[in-house]
Amino acid sequence: MAEDKRGDLRVELTGIEMRNPLLVCSGTFGNGREYAEWLDLEELGGLMTKSVTLAPCPGNKPPRLWETPSGMLNSIGLENPGLERFLEDDLSWLSGFDLPVWVNVAGFSQEEYVEVAREVSRSGMAAALELNISCPNVKKGGIHFSADARVAAGLVEKVKKEIDIPLYVKLTPRCADIAHTAEVLVSAGADGLSLINTFPAMAVDIEHAKPRLGNVTGGLSGPAMHPIAVGMVWEVAGTVDVPIIGMGGIWSWQDAVEMMMVGADAIAVGTLNFTHPRAPKQILDGMGSFLARKGMSSAAHLVDMVREEAGRDE
Ligand SMILES: Cc1cc2nc3c(=O)[nH]c(=O)nc-3n(C[C@H](O)[C@H](O)[C@H](O)COP(=O)(O)O)c2cc1C
Repeated sequence: MAEDKRGDLRVELTGIEMRNPLLVCSGTFGNGREYAEWLDLEELGGLMTKSVTLAPCPGNKPPRLWETPSGMLNSIGLENPGLERFLEDDLSWLSGFDLPVWVNVAGFSQEEYVEVAREVSRSGMAAALELNISCPNVKKGGIHFSADARVAAGLVEKVKKEIDIPLYVKLTPRCADIAHTAEVLVSAGADGLSLINTFPAMAVDIEHAKPRLGNVTGGLSGPAMHPIAVGMVWEVAGTVDVPIIGMGGIWSWQDAVEMMMVGADAIAVGTLNFTHPRAPKQILDGMGSFLARKGMSSAAHLVDMVREEAGRDE
């Protein structure tokens, strides 16, 4: 793969060569088509698709979005066209690009997760899987798996047996001890982790005493959650030794660098894509200039710098 023109931002994650460490988050970039007119998809380090389930899923009833002063609430749910159409229309289209794709897999039962994961792996069109065990917007979906690390570990073991591409598991901030959850999932076979999903939240129209979202509650994303995400990546990176994709309120190249400095091997931009579809390119330019200014030869040097620095001080 050719060297990125902004400097050497190349990274390698679980054997996947990426031209830079910037991905786009699941559910915030469609499956790429809508953004292709704003951005050259081959400028991205990777793309994480919207969660796909076995059967088509209509998602939750509207309204499904609510803007807050420093973020966004969403209750989209798992709206998607189902596995068959996803493979035929979306993944085959994406496979025409020189771009590693993480297919985000969800389900309403363990069997469903396993079947979707197996078929995506067999298709040969995905670089990796991202297992969404953490969607806050489905009543009988992932949250039950992620709330109990042992149940989630059982799912990871089952999926792992059926696939031959790297398995990333996406963690929810809604757990008692995210580092412990990460440890259990890595022992069960997760090759990498992505964190964090949205934070369960709610807003109310006080004039009518009604929830703002049709689903009543939703997930908070955006800048409000960035320091929470940074803290959680820090904890998880200090506990497990697998690649971490850090996400949560990344709004600038500084946020991206910060996330890598606390231990993320790569980062993903989410809610920002809705208002600034060209933001990934600007973030990459900023990261490239920062590396050059600091005289760093590779983006990989950023990873866990805060811990290394603390070690030197002791
Ligand atoms: C509108 C919307 C839809 C989302 N859909 C999904 C999804 O289908 N699967 C998933 O794993 N995460 C989903 N997420 C969570 C994001 O991938 C990401 O983890 C989260 O938004 C934090 O990053 P951000 O603050 O940069 O948006 C969604 C987020 C938003 C805002």
